[in-house]
Formats: sequence, C-alpha cells, structure tokens
Amino acid sequence: MSRNRKKPAAPPSLAALCAAEKRAGEKTVAVVTGASGGLGAEFVRLLCADPALDEVWAIARSADKLRALAQECGGKVVPVPMDVSDGAAIRAFGASVPAGVRIAVLVNNAGFAKFGSWEDIPDEEARNMIDLNVGGVVSMANACIPHMPRGAHMLNIASQAAFQPLPYQNLYSSTKAFVRNYSRALNVELRGRGIAVTAVCPGWIRTDLYGRAATGGKKATTRFCHMAQPRDVASKALKDARRGKDMSVYGGYVKFCHVLAKFLPQRAMMKLWLCQQDLD
Ligand SMILES: NC(=O)c1ccc[n+]([C@@H]2O[C@H](COP(=O)([O-])OP(=O)(O)OC[C@H]3O[C@@H](n4cnc5c(N)ncnc54)[C@H](OP(=O)(O)O)[C@@H]3O)[C@@H](O)[C@H]2O)c1
Repeated sequence: MSRNRKKPAAPPSLAALCAAEKRAGEKTVAVVTGASGGLGAEFVRLLCADPALDEVWAIARSADKLRALAQECGGKVVPVPMDVSDGAAIRAFGASVPAGVRIAVLVNNAGFAKFGSWEDIPDEEARNMIDLNVGGVVSMANACIPHMPRGAHMLNIASQAAFQPLPYQNLYSSTKAFVRNYSRALNVELRGRGIAVTAVCPGWIRTDLYGRAATGGKKATTRFCHMAQPRDVASKALKDARRGKDMSVYGGYVKFCHVLAKFLPQRAMMKLWLCQQDLD
C-alpha cells in the first residue's frame, strides 16, 4: 500500500524583517551558491516563494542549468554563472553589487566531496575542495556581509561529517568541521549588526554529490543510510534560520549522531564509523 507523504510547505518569509525597512527604489534579494542542482536548487525554489524577496540570485558554473532553473521558477531567479572556488571572482562579484541591493538571505551551499584515502585524491583536487568548501564560504560571506541589512540571514551548508573526524573522507569532513565552527563563531560576531548565521548539518541527501565523489579508491564510503530528500533538508534549514537557531540538523538519525558525538571520545566515534562503512 502506498503512503501519501505530505510535501513540506514553503516556509514563511525569512526576508520579512529586512523588507519591513526597505526604502523606495531598493531591492531585497537572496543569494544561493551551488544553485544549479541538488540542495542549492531546492533552496532557490523555496526562496522564490518568499513574497518579501524581489530576486533570487542563483550562482553556479553551469549557466545552462541556471537558465533552466530560472525558466522553471519564473521571473525572480537571476542566473549568475561563477566559480565559487575563485576568490578573485567572488571579490569582483561583491564589488559589483549595485547600491540599493539588500542581501536578505545568503545560502553558502556550493561544495563537493571525494570519498577515498589520502592517496586517492590528487593534490590539485584536494586544494580545490578546500578552495570551494572553505575559501568559497569565507569569501562569499566577506563579499555579502557589507550588503546585508539588519534582520538578514546567512545559511552555511556544513554536514553531519562536521561532528567528528572521518577516515577515508578525512579532507571533506575537515572542510565541513571548518564551516560549522566558522558559522557558529560568525553568528556571535554578527549579532551587533543584526545578522544571524546558521550552520546546516545534514546527513546523506539524495543529490548528484555521490557521482562526483567517486574516486575508484579501494577504501571509500559505500553505505549511505537514512537518505533525505533535498527539499526536506532545505525547508527545515530555512525554518530553523527563521527561528534564530545557529545550527540546523535534519532527521532523528542525524540528531542521534550529533548527541553521540558530544559524549563519546572521537576515537570511539571513528571506530563506529569504520565499522558502519565496513572499512575496518
Ligand atoms: N548530498 C549529501 O549527502 C550532502 C550531505 C551533507 C552536506 N552536503 C553539502 O550540501 C551542499 C550541496 O551539495 P549537493 O548534495 O546538492 O551536491 P550536488 O548535487 O553535487 O550540487 C553541488 C552544487 O555545487 C555547484 N558547484 C560545484 N562546484 C562549484 C564551483 N567551483 N563553483 C560554483 N558552484 C559549484 C554545482 O554546480 P556546477 O557544477 O554547475 O558549478 C552544484 O550546483 C554541499 O556543500 C555538500 O557538501 C551534501
């Protein structure tokens, strides 16, 4: 018997606080990186339903996919083809934001993973992962904060992988631990400016990340339990941001792992991970 799963409703306005102080001629926008697919595209779809937003700027490298998303979502989406691992491109983007544009929501979502041991990931690719997952988040924050008014929100996509060190995903989990710590500390720093930051820490999500993560390495992540739908994760993240939470964790299993990581020594957490992935 098929069960009718209820689709999560679009969250109430995240940008309403900023829109309240909007002056004539000003534009209230959301910026989403990694918007051409997966979780980022779902953030764009949900944010388009926010009546307080005039535009949603969708950033990724694939201009054709961004154009298709803009067509699907109607007039609000503005495709911005850009490589978020390129610091100079982000600085130029920040400098080109017109006066009168207020960034009410920034979703730092672009990122990729590689599953395997240290020797399965060439140095150039390793550096690129750090440049995108870490450098991209920091540079986008630096470029956008000057344009974010009081009441604005930043959501930085970390991962459940941020809770503990993960052998055979050592680099990816380290980049996500950075995003989590950076976001929570930045949230405290930005309180005076009235800007809230949420570290989003999902478990496995059904997206294209896995195809891109394969290295062909002998020891790699192969077991993906409690897979979530990207729309559910994005919807919960926007809801948590609206409630002022500095962390968003989707799903009972991921919440359990989060609590476990607070009480068990990291060595024990790594052992559990290796057993679960049959990598011992
Ligand atoms: N899937 C999961 O299980 C999972 C779990 C926890 C956290 N996350 C995190 O969620 C975020 C979104 O991942 P996803 O699962 O949606 O993966 P995805 O389907 O592979 O999407 C990744 C997005 O990032 C963009 N991107 C990749 N490299 C880029 C670059 N150099 N510059 C700009 N954009 C770039 C891609 O577009 P282009 O290729 O067009 O640039 C794409 O839109 C990532 O930060 C990921 O680490 C994912």
